[in-house]
Amino acid sequence: METARITVIGAGYVGLVTGVCLANSGHDVTCVDVDAAKIEMLSSGSSPIYEPGIVELLAKTSASGRLRFATPQDGWAPLLGDIVFVAVGTPMAESGAADLTAVREVVQTVAATTDHPFTLVMKSTVPPGTGRDLVSRFLDDSPHPIGYVSNPEFLREGRALEDWYHTDRVVLGSDDPSALDAVEALYEEVDATVLRTDIASAETIKYASNAFLATKISFINEIANVCDAAGARIDDVSVGVGLDSRIGPQFLNAGIGYGGSCFPKDVRALDFISSESGYSFELVKAVIEVNARQRTLPVDALRRTLGDLSGARIAVLGLTFKPDTDDVRESPAIDIIASLVAEGASVLAYDPLASHVILPEGASRVDDAWTALTGANAVVLVTEWSEFVGLDWTRAAAAMAAPKIVFDGRNALDANALEAAGVRYMAVGRDGCHRRHDH
Ligand code: UGA
Repeated sequence: METARITVIGAGYVGLVTGVCLANSGHDVTCVDVDAAKIEMLSSGSSPIYEPGIVELLAKTSASGRLRFATPQDGWAPLLGDIVFVAVGTPMAESGAADLTAVREVVQTVAATTDHPFTLVMKSTVPPGTGRDLVSRFLDDSPHPIGYVSNPEFLREGRALEDWYHTDRVVLGSDDPSALDAVEALYEEVDATVLRTDIASAETIKYASNAFLATKISFINEIANVCDAAGARIDDVSVGVGLDSRIGPQFLNAGIGYGGSCFPKDVRALDFISSESGYSFELVKAVIEVNARQRTLPVDALRRTLGDLSGARIAVLGLTFKPDTDDVRESPAIDIIASLVAEGASVLAYDPLASHVILPEGASRVDDAWTALTGANAVVLVTEWSEFVGLDWTRAAAAMAAPKIVFDGRNALDANALEAAGVRYMAVGRDGCHRRHDH
């Protein structure tokens, strides 16, 4: 393998994983970020993100001298290698559009200041057409030739390092064959199909993939709601549907819907992009609406069962948008807690990792699950951390106060065991349980 001189701009989730993994493959990597505190933290071996295995790999690659961190305060030119990854944020603007301010600023700056030719690799999620626009606005005028490759990322939080080496595909979009060759060589160690395409198609693949997965989730959630109405069991329905190899078993877990930094943002951006170009993408609109509605299920169910929520003590277990991450962005927990508090309930919430989150006024974060659920009239399980799945629910039932409701927002708990322990178990599409308890 030939060692490449690589720069990764943006030491956030995607940039950091990219930098660490490429350094681990033997390349010479500099990660650059404007956030001096973050760079200092990384230089001293700590990770600003929680990701299993990242601290160890950070230590290994930094010690080998293959990974360095820098801010651009002393100028960009000396920081730029032969391949420059852009992995800066594209947050959601008020309109639903992807905010491209940081992407444009970085591309413009590096194109204007470089003292040598390089290949620019876009890892940030950008709408179809963005690459072409960046090339004509900034790269074509650069004093040195710059090849452009769109290389969307498909990593999952909590499994990012594993996903880097065992992804289903590497997508590379460019009209420059030598730039494509240079970037493909970086993935030599990665066991995946490499798909070469034009820039706009690569950009579209990213949005289409996330929107399809989000659609699969909203679809199974609608089926779960039908199960509740019809008295069917979503667990069996999901298995039966997923056994069709054309459908597949993944992403068929019903619950209170998707969250995180990617699906909500990318699905809304796809809706926005379509509308902007005069196309009304009805399916994607329904996916968003269904997802918003799923988060209202726990509060609706508790209101129907408890009557008035004012004065009720509710424990919320889990604040992150999924287990094995400390990320609370777009987590259903925040909306659920806000609704509970608005209806007069007092809420104690616990999460094993999310210690930094600010909860709506009237809710408090506690340091363990037992403090949250002791004396609680109801528990809402928002995140299926293994700690909650493996909880001693018989002891929990004894510690709770009447009517001891557990709303399992992730269909992760053993319904029979909980009912045997003496709680009123509710979930999403499982055994028509809302129907059974409410009517
Ligand atoms: C997602 C994609 O899975 C990655 O391929 C993509 O690279 C990433 O977004 C991104 O665009 O950066 P991630 O946000 O880490 O990854 O999370 P997922 O594991 O996909 O879960 C997303 C949400 O869907 C979670 O809230 C999860 O609880 C929910 N989900 C997932 C369900 O409700 N049901 C399921 O069956 C699966």
